[in-house]
Amino acid sequence: MIETIRWKDNRVLMIDQRKLPREEKYFVCANYRSVIDAIRRMVIRGAPAIGVAAAMGVALGARSVRAKRIDLFQERLSRICEEIKAARPTAVNLAWAVERMERLVADHRSEGADTIKTILFRESEEMLKQDIRINRSIGRHGQALLKDGDCVLTHCNAGALATGGYGTALGVIRAAVEKGKKIRVIADETRPFLQGARLTAWEMMKSDIPVTLITDNMSGYLMYKGEVNAVIVGADRIAANGDVANKIGTYMVAVLAGTHDIPFYVAAPLSSIDRDTPTGDQIPIEERPPEEVTHFQGKRIAPDGVAVKNPAFDVTPNRNISGIITEKGIALPPFGSSLAEMF
Ligand code: MRU
Repeated sequence: MIETIRWKDNRVLMIDQRKLPREEKYFVCANYRSVIDAIRRMVIRGAPAIGVAAAMGVALGARSVRAKRIDLFQERLSRICEEIKAARPTAVNLAWAVERMERLVADHRSEGADTIKTILFRESEEMLKQDIRINRSIGRHGQALLKDGDCVLTHCNAGALATGGYGTALGVIRAAVEKGKKIRVIADETRPFLQGARLTAWEMMKSDIPVTLITDNMSGYLMYKGEVNAVIVGADRIAANGDVANKIGTYMVAVLAGTHDIPFYVAAPLSSIDRDTPTGDQIPIEERPPEEVTHFQGKRIAPDGVAVKNPAFDVTPNRNISGIITEKGIALPPFGSSLAEMF
């Protein structure tokens, strides 16, 4: 089993996803600042995984607060929470996890700072276990959409590495395989960070699930040739109307799938649904450093001074989505009402 993140001796250990697939090295966070750094620098990535990391960061942050007076403790911890929430803007799981921890602090105020520190540590452990249970449940619901022999295209990495374990989109594939269905996977390489080439390909091969790697510009041709039966991707944030922010390039795949009458599914936990954001237009989209586009493995591949755009995510409008697979079941269009019913 792939271990994305866990506690070890009061430190947070994360598999360093920048180094995969070549090296399986663990990155150690001894304090909350190093958790923030790990999230920003993509040591850990994927919406549910950064949610779990954020919760562990809050637990580490709480330990660093010396104040015993509860009002001071709460004030200092709340500043730490704000810093953690600001690590990356698009995946709503980050704020969701931090706010869950903050609610716990408020609920246990009367028990004092030391007890709260223990409670936060346990809660972060529970969030990791819960995430894996949720993914298995997403898998159970979603696998019914796949037939024996299907070839599923996926974009980015929405697998064990992007979550506490098992995965969302890849969890659906895992569950179908566990049911005895023969499923083949096509992984988009996912420029510029190559989560598909480096992470999804590695994860599927490690699980003995047949995977074929393609560059992002090949999916249209394969769909046209009838080689793709379904598309399943994850989500960083789902607006109340069902618009989905996910890795840049997802929208392009959704439009292509629609043109070729291929179902396009999103697999995500309810914690990725942001009921306070009415449509995709209000979702903040992270812009990442231009060097991710102009350089490859530290070497410049584009002319000096060229203008660059590097949005890390795009928004797929709800009209391009066939179904949203959650731990509570599959939401179908119209998503405004079907998603609301899940809560
Ligand atoms: O920039 P990343 O690698 O954090 O982006 C990850 C994605 O877009 C995933 O598809 C999404 O977080 C879902 S992960 C279950």
